[in-house]
Amino acid sequence: MKRTHHCNQLRPAQIGQSVTLSGWVHSRRDLGGLIFIDIRDREGRTQTVFDPSDMAPELFQQAGLLRGECVVSVTGKVRARPAGTANPKIATGEIEIAAAALEVLNMADVLPFPVDDPEVARTVNEELRLQYRYLDLRRPEMARNLRLRSKVASATRVYFDERGFLEVETPTLFKSTPEGAREFLVPSRAQPGKFYALPQSPQQFKQILMVAGVEKYFQLARCYRDEDQRADRQLEFTQIDLEMSFIEREDIYELIEGLLRRIWKTALDIDVPAPFKRLTYQEALNRYGIDKPDTRFGLELADLTEDFRASKFKVFSGAIAAGGVVKAINAKGMADATQGQIETMTEYAKSFGAKGLAYIKVEKGEWKSPIVKFFNETEKQALSTKLKIEEGDLLLFAADQWLNACEILGKIRLYCADVLKTRGQLVLPANRFDFLWVVDFPLLTFDKEQNRWYSSHHPFTAPVAEDIPLLTTDPRKVRGQHYDIVVNGIELGGGSIRIHQPAVQKLVFEQVLQIPPDLVQARFGYMLEAFRYGAPPHGGIALGFDRLNAILCGASSIRDVIAFPKTAKGADLMTDSPAGVDPKQLRELYLEQKLPKKE
Ligand code: AMO
Ligand code: AMP
Repeated sequence: MKRTHHCNQLRPAQIGQSVTLSGWVHSRRDLGGLIFIDIRDREGRTQTVFDPSDMAPELFQQAGLLRGECVVSVTGKVRARPAGTANPKIATGEIEIAAAALEVLNMADVLPFPVDDPEVARTVNEELRLQYRYLDLRRPEMARNLRLRSKVASATRVYFDERGFLEVETPTLFKSTPEGAREFLVPSRAQPGKFYALPQSPQQFKQILMVAGVEKYFQLARCYRDEDQRADRQLEFTQIDLEMSFIEREDIYELIEGLLRRIWKTALDIDVPAPFKRLTYQEALNRYGIDKPDTRFGLELADLTEDFRASKFKVFSGAIAAGGVVKAINAKGMADATQGQIETMTEYAKSFGAKGLAYIKVEKGEWKSPIVKFFNETEKQALSTKLKIEEGDLLLFAADQWLNACEILGKIRLYCADVLKTRGQLVLPANRFDFLWVVDFPLLTFDKEQNRWYSSHHPFTAPVAEDIPLLTTDPRKVRGQHYDIVVNGIELGGGSIRIHQPAVQKLVFEQVLQIPPDLVQARFGYMLEAFRYGAPPHGGIALGFDRLNAILCGASSIRDVIAFPKTAKGADLMTDSPAGVDPKQLRELYLEQKLPKKE
């Protein structure tokens, strides 16, 4: 090895020893006739000093030619830094190496952006960072993220191994199951005109593993979804995926709480309290307007439906008469919101189909709004009490069908929290993690455009047992045995107890989801058949591994915890993928290349 130590290891205890360090030239400063070179490796940094009075002129000259990111090996004696020149910011800041030999292992061109500047993530265009990802990954922040991810993966494996889980790899050449997100298709060469699909998750295989008697399965599984890209979504991503037999919901809660406690302890040395809070879907929507609430702050929604049922203000009483609700939120201290901010919030309301967004500003002891004149004393009193109105408040109202009213105010709640955060009026402690389970989701959601029910989660989720008779009579009321794990407003994972009776699964496919029987047979026939040969009751969950790591690293995008992520357009800028292919390859795959005509 061309090194005796890593660049984070040397301390005053090693003074006088001759050592060799290998790594990259992190920085070079020429000062008072001396050359100072900081060598960096994966572990840290150490200062080396080239003194012309102490070495052959060629050596000094060679050191003078070194540029940032050249790869070198330096040998020399450890010595204390002169009084007053210690650097308390780095672990090796009390010592330096008096260079006696230098081996240049490779030169480096001038870099497209500096590696040693902690501001790079802010000042350098992310596309450039992605194009030169290998340089970006040298930056200590990114190296730390990769290291943390590896540590979390290994803690996860140990945790499941301790509990008797088997890690089983499932195929990534699967078949098309177009129920969920859009898929990636892979043409088969051996079977002309046929396609594999990349799996959106190992869902079906993990259930089959339960039929196979594996009982406890887990996998750090790669999943593929051709969805629109966002900060928390990638085309390919990783799940901590698991499934267990002979269990109930409580068993999954306990298992995952234990896993997350282990991970938070390992990664951040934080003791997460358990058991986690639980909220029903109804309560989450009613109080926070979203099924993944950030409960680190209040700004909760209030319900005013009963108070305004007979109101003279027709926008409210009319919505209620049409079967809707009136809900409101008190944005504490935001009476001075700008017109632009009010417009942004009104646009949110309109994007949900509402006609507008009624609001009241409480300023100088007065309720300022054109709608106040419609309210009687009882209504004003109800507002005052339910919204705890004080000077400086901004009250925002949504009158609409229940889900819409909740979701409008849920978005506005998050927007107001952001405004209050930037103004310093809402401060969230850095190390606060509000974990919670959201439970009792509706099994089915109605799609107005297609005039049919579809699964809120996926078609394998079991209904709550007592709701099974409602499947064919009142699907809206059927609760699913589904659960989501949420932290600080982020959906970290979701899962469910599954249907294991072939008859119930067939009923859900054919009668509830209205998938024609021949299609059910073609897509899921093998599963229905497997369930006929002794399928144990089972359930599981999958956590987004990238999201988990982004939370642990405090990263604002999962791209920062994925070694080689894709851009919003799904491109890998470093390898320049996706790319065209040779027509010969297309012919071999029986594909013709027909691109849309350019306008
Ligand atoms: P679901 O579709 O809810 O469930 O996915 C589970 C978790 O995976 C993460 N995730 C993503 N992360 C990054 N990029 C994406 N495009 C992306 N999509 C999802 C989220 C999400 O909570 N088979 C079921 C699980 C089960 O029922 O056991 C499933 O995949 O954190
Ligand atoms: P209008 O009577 O239509 O002028 O509306 C009076 C106020 O109610 C305006 O401030 C609108 O923005 C607001 N408004 C209209 N529809 C809704 C709704 N569905 N929910 C809440 N406020 C609304």
